[in-house]
Amino acid sequence: MASTQDAQGAARVLVASNRGPVSYEVREDGSLHSRRGGGGVVSGLSAIGPDAGALWVCSALSDGDREAVRRGVGEDGVLMLDIPAEVHSEAYNGIANSVLWFVHHMLYQTPLEPVFDAEFRRRWASYETYNRAFAQALAERAAPGAAVLVQDYHLCLVPGMLRELRPDVRIGHFSHTPWAPPEYFRMLPDDIRAQLVWGMLGADRLGFLTWRWAYAFMNCAGAVDGERIVPMVPVPSKPRWIEHTPTGRPPLRKTWIGVHGLGADAEFLRARSHEADVAERMAALRDEIGSAPDGTARRTIVRVDRTELSKNIVRGLLAYRQLLDDHPEWRERVVHVAFAYPSRQDLAVYREYTAEVQRLAEEINSRYGTPGWTPVVLHVKDDFARSLAAYRLADVALVNPIRDGMNLVAKEVPVVSDEGCVLVLSREAGAFEELREDAIAVNPYDVMGTARALHAALTMRPEERAERSKRLAAAATALPPAQWFLDQLHALEEGAEGRPA
Ligand code: G6P
Repeated sequence: MASTQDAQGAARVLVASNRGPVSYEVREDGSLHSRRGGGGVVSGLSAIGPDAGALWVCSALSDGDREAVRRGVGEDGVLMLDIPAEVHSEAYNGIANSVLWFVHHMLYQTPLEPVFDAEFRRRWASYETYNRAFAQALAERAAPGAAVLVQDYHLCLVPGMLRELRPDVRIGHFSHTPWAPPEYFRMLPDDIRAQLVWGMLGADRLGFLTWRWAYAFMNCAGAVDGERIVPMVPVPSKPRWIEHTPTGRPPLRKTWIGVHGLGADAEFLRARSHEADVAERMAALRDEIGSAPDGTARRTIVRVDRTELSKNIVRGLLAYRQLLDDHPEWRERVVHVAFAYPSRQDLAVYREYTAEVQRLAEEINSRYGTPGWTPVVLHVKDDFARSLAAYRLADVALVNPIRDGMNLVAKEVPVVSDEGCVLVLSREAGAFEELREDAIAVNPYDVMGTARALHAALTMRPEERAERSKRLAAAATALPPAQWFLDQLHALEEGAEGRPA
């Protein structure tokens, strides 16, 4: 690829996301400590080369991040925006995570919520301000004709705002979440719904993790009242697009729709999971799991999640409890290894959910546990090496989200597990589209059905389990992160589907 930075230092490839690739913490002695994160976009950007000079625009999230911005500390290729903490909190906690995340994952308890009142409107104004800050930063830093890749539901308005400021740049937006079905999306006030759809349609290209979410978006776009949006009839394996005109008059613009099913990074995972710290964690976990009374190793049902409402950890525990009731022969012979790492703890509903996960795990342990057997081994402190250790030990992986854009755990466990594992997978996870043949499917709301699936998984013949696990690993790694990112970039830059009008 040609140099990605022009003579004035303006970037030719830009990424925008709420959470950036680096975060800072102020240590007790006042020094700043930085931590780099992983993920698909990080791998993708490293694939275009460290010297390419691409720019990642993200938001300062913590006090440490804000301090880094103020001290002028930063990494090459990362621009952290110091958006006022209150504006950020209203946009991120108040709108992105409490409204848009809830709509796309269908998480509301509808008799009482959502309520779109004056407080909501105030927060929405912050969401607009926060999106505008990104659009302006991108507009200032993009070279003529640059490719800008905007990420996720935090930044739905950026494509439209950026197009107004810089009609010359090529704009992509990628959704890492599901998209809501039109009936659910219609809960949003009409003007907000239209603003979101028109914001997204400012892009030349919209990317989704599966066709299910892409079609949902197309249906929501087609249902925006009083505006001319014409989604084309989807034709399998043909380019797809939406034609639209915000003014209701020609000329029509086209926004292309693309699907890129992010896969697991096999090379990285296999190497990382054989490092010494993972071996240490495996030994410690084996001690916690213990052996069955006859001396054989206990079976493990493993789950690893952020403690996220959509991950369905509570029903997973209920299903495990049901398994112990329906099949007492498993008592003392199986352990549910559940890692539920803190997430979005600023939101009360997440804190309550975390507490419920802990309460239920304790209840199961006190009701069924024996002096030598802890039925649920629950850890809530984030530890990547320990997650990989659990992946390696897993006999069964339980991935039962209510709804999930993709779910990378479902893809990672089969790649890493030592003996091959059985995957019990929610049919509402994006990963289900690619893994359905070799997973055991569950309806995430059906606790009895999930308990039956766990029993079927635990009793699967070893040869069948190994064969299925091998096929799962192959399907899971079909589109590694670097390729996933490059495919999107090339499609946007070169118009792989034909250049949008
Ligand atoms: C999901 C979203 C990401 C987000 C991540 C963690 O995967 O699609 O955009 O970064 O959750 O959530 P957080 O709120 O901690 O950034």
